[in-house]
Amino acid sequence: MDVIRQKRAPVYEALEKFRRQRVVPFDVPGHKRGRGNAELVSFLGERCVGIDVNSMKPLDNLCHPVSVIKEAEELTADAFGASHAFLMVNGTTSAVQAMVLSNVKAGEKIIMPRNVHKSAINALILCGAVPVYIDPKVDTKLGIPLGMEIADVKRAVEENPDAKAILINNPSYYGICSDLRAIVKLAHENGMKALVDEAHGTHLYFGPNLPVNAMTAGADMAAISMHKSGGSLTQSSILLCGPGANVGYISRIVNLTQTTSASYLLLASLDISRRNLALNGHDSFEKVTAMAQYARSEINEIGGYYAYGNELINGGSIYDFDETKLVVNTRSVGLTGIEVYDLLRDEYDIQMEFGDLSNVMAYISIGDRLQDIERLAGALADIKRIYAKPEYSFFSAEYISPIVKATPQEAFYAEKESLPIESTIGRISAESVMCYPPGIPILSPGEVITKEILDYIKTAMEKGCSMQGPESEDISELFVLK
Ligand SMILES: Cc1ncc(COP(=O)(O)O)c(C=O)c1O
Repeated sequence: MDVIRQKRAPVYEALEKFRRQRVVPFDVPGHKRGRGNAELVSFLGERCVGIDVNSMKPLDNLCHPVSVIKEAEELTADAFGASHAFLMVNGTTSAVQAMVLSNVKAGEKIIMPRNVHKSAINALILCGAVPVYIDPKVDTKLGIPLGMEIADVKRAVEENPDAKAILINNPSYYGICSDLRAIVKLAHENGMKALVDEAHGTHLYFGPNLPVNAMTAGADMAAISMHKSGGSLTQSSILLCGPGANVGYISRIVNLTQTTSASYLLLASLDISRRNLALNGHDSFEKVTAMAQYARSEINEIGGYYAYGNELINGGSIYDFDETKLVVNTRSVGLTGIEVYDLLRDEYDIQMEFGDLSNVMAYISIGDRLQDIERLAGALADIKRIYAKPEYSFFSAEYISPIVKATPQEAFYAEKESLPIESTIGRISAESVMCYPPGIPILSPGEVITKEILDYIKTAMEKGCSMQGPESEDISELFVLK
């Protein structure tokens, strides 16, 4: 990484220059630096609306970067050790979809763990590729899906030598990493691309003693949520490419769905955050890891809760663990993670990242403070004292192996009918159902609906998980194939 060059932030600098010029706007956006929308200015401030501008020559154009955005992308690639980087403004969803769409076409196979984010499965609906799912192992005590074991990936590769790519989560929402280097090697030895969903892994490029990142492991592409641990504005993201990527083709794929009016607030936030990570990321994430470790020890002192860390590593399905992730298992206090999540928000004004049936998660980042961690630990101790119940057992894991009968695209576009959810057992789903977050479908289009899946959905709804996927708002009905 070229530290001197990394001090530049070309998009941000161009916007600052533009602001000083006081150009008269006869272009969109129609609020005209806020003058046409006083309420928006009083809400967001003049500085913010003043740079909410459209593409123009001095500010470049995200759809075909030739100047300041191109330079910002080059700096981003340099900071992340990539050959090329695309700045993305349609979320990491668009980065995951661009990775999939640029590597597999209709009818071609892609190997992936089944516990992927919905953006990956939705990419298959868009392009018609065929998933070869690898069941992640599950930790039935913690109730979480784990990583892919090498033996399982090997088997999938041997049985599907015609697959074009392998998609890997690095890490999962819960901090779990597969053996990324070995999977990338396996992919390349068999003529397949290695595509990595690093929505939860921006910091792996900067912090010390963290699991290996996709570019270092030799992967072909990676989708990076800068807006998660990287500190940029919500929805801003990055798509990284390794050596040999067909950047021109990938750019055409990105432009199939990318807005033609990219927000300069998002682009500048990517530029500023990349500079900050390049210059300060090492120290920042060292502190974040230390804070998460401190939180784990405070929470584990309470008893009942289990905030897990590196001790989970087993050389296989948990090849590595991202210690910045603070996930707390709540089973032994007799409460679901989502119940603890709701109590923390409603009774203690603490907003957690997510709660599922067995765990609650705090996203620890550069913006957190030790006193907030202490407040969280205090609130958890209080909740245990006031609300603890006998230990429960609902589900062994946040994951049920699917029975796949059709590809996501076939099922999505098939002739279908809507049925009361309780009458759908044995039918093939045309819709996804998931708790969001984490956004990993419990049911995807093309999969058989079983009693176990319906029991899970019912319990998740009863316990207060936010559900999404189906057309039916209250999920009382599901579309199934005719
Ligand atoms: C693993 C994973 N991939 C992709 C995404 C999509 O990211 P975004 O919300 O920025 O579109 C998420 C979102 O949480 C995610 O958890």
